[in-house]
Amino acid sequence: MTVTRGLEGVVATTSSISSIIDDTLTYAGYDIDDLAVNASFEEVIYLLWHRKLPNAEQLAELKKELAENSALPQEVIEHFKLFPMQKVHPMAALRTAVSLLGIYDDEADLMDTESNYKKAIRLQAKMPAIVATFARVRKGLEPVAPKLDLSFAANFLYMLTGKEPEAIAVEAIDKALVLHADHELNASTFTARVCVATLSDVYSGVTAAIGALKGPLHGGANEAVMKMLTEIGTLENVEPYVREKLEKKEKIMGFGHRVYRLGDPRAKHLKEMSKKLTELTGEPHWYDMSVKIENIVTGEKKLPPNVDFFSASVYHSLGVDHDLMTPIFAVSRVSGWLAHILEQYENNRLIRPRAEYTGPGMQKYIPIEQRG
Ligand SMILES: CC(C)(COP(=O)(O)OP(=O)(O)OC[C@H]1O[C@@H](n2cnc3c(N)ncnc32)[C@H](O)[C@@H]1OP(=O)(O)O)[C@@H](O)C(=O)NCCC(=O)NCCS
Repeated sequence: MTVTRGLEGVVATTSSISSIIDDTLTYAGYDIDDLAVNASFEEVIYLLWHRKLPNAEQLAELKKELAENSALPQEVIEHFKLFPMQKVHPMAALRTAVSLLGIYDDEADLMDTESNYKKAIRLQAKMPAIVATFARVRKGLEPVAPKLDLSFAANFLYMLTGKEPEAIAVEAIDKALVLHADHELNASTFTARVCVATLSDVYSGVTAAIGALKGPLHGGANEAVMKMLTEIGTLENVEPYVREKLEKKEKIMGFGHRVYRLGDPRAKHLKEMSKKLTELTGEPHWYDMSVKIENIVTGEKKLPPNVDFFSASVYHSLGVDHDLMTPIFAVSRVSGWLAHILEQYENNRLIRPRAEYTGPGMQKYIPIEQRG
C-alpha cells in the first residue's frame, strides 16, 4: 500500500465543472479572471450547473426560480430562537439549518434528476436567507423577508441589514460570490461527493460540506485572517507579529494552497476590491496592513495569499460581522457543491479508499476479570 498523506496529487474523479491547470482556474472552460470582471453570480450558478452560460431567457428563468424559493420556512426561524445564541457560531447554525431544510422538504429523499435539480434551486435560493436571518435573530432583530426583484447579492445584503444596499456593496458581494463559487475537488466539495456517493440525499451532502468548510484550514481562514488583522491592530505591529509567527513555525492564515504554486488567481480581484473599499470607508490601514503581511510572507516563505486573505478586509469594510465571513463563502460555494452532487449522481460509484493499519498486532480477547 502506498499512503498519500492528505491525498495530495491524487486524482479521485473526473469532473466537467471546474479546473485548476497551471495556476489558472476555470469554470466549465471560462477563465475566472474573465468571469470575475464580467459575470453575475446567477450566471455562474447556471454555468456550473449546465456547463454553459445562460441566454437572456434562461437567466431570467433561473433568477425567477431563485427569487420564488428564497424565503426561509417559519419552522427554521423558530428553531433559531431555541439556539444558545451566545455560543453558536453561524457556521454551526448554517449546518444545522440546511439539515432542518431537509427535514421540512417532502422531496428530500426523491432521487430522480428533476427532483434533485429542484432541490438544488431551493437550497441555493435559501442560503442567503439562512445566514441573514440567523444574523438578525441572534441580535434580537426581526427577520427581513426577501425582495423578489433584487439580484441574489443585493437580496442577501437587504435581508441582512433591512436596507436597500449601495451599488458598490452589491458589486463587492457579487464579485466575491463569483470568485468563491467552485474550486475543483477542494475539501468541502470532496466531502459532499463522498457523502452523496453512498446515494444519500442532497441536504446530507451539503450539510457535510458545510462541516468541512467550517475549519480554519479551509473556509474558516477568512475569519481567522480578520482575527489576525484585529490582533495586529497597527501597521507598525505587522513586522514583529508576522516574524514571530514565522519563527515559531506557526501558520499565517490566508496564505498557502495545496494546488496553486505561484499564486491563487482569485486573490488579486479581492485585493483590488479591498483597496477600493477600505479607502471608501476611511480605514485604509486594513488594506495597508494586509499588503505588508503579504510582502513579508511572500518574501520569507514564498507563499502567496489565497482567496481568503483579502476577502477578510473586503467583508469587514462592508460592515459584515466577522463570524459571518465563512457563511458568506458557503452561500457562494453551495453552487459548486450542488453542481458536484448532481454530477456525482449522474455517474455514481461509492467512494471508499483504504487505510494502512498501524495499530496493535493480532490480540486474543481477555475476559474483563482477567485484565490488569
Ligand atoms: C492551505 C493549506 C491548508 C495547504 O496545506 P498543505 O498543502 O497541506 O500544506 P502544508 O500545511 O503541509 O504546508 C507545507 C509547508 O508550507 C508551510 N505553510 C503552508 N501554509 C502556511 C502558512 N499559511 N503560513 C506559514 N507556513 C505555511 C507549512 O508550515 C509547511 O512547511 P514545512 O514543510 O517547513 O513544514 C496551508 O497552506 C494552510 O494551512 N494555510 C493557512 C490556512 C488557509 O489560508 N487556508 C485557506 C486555503 S484556501
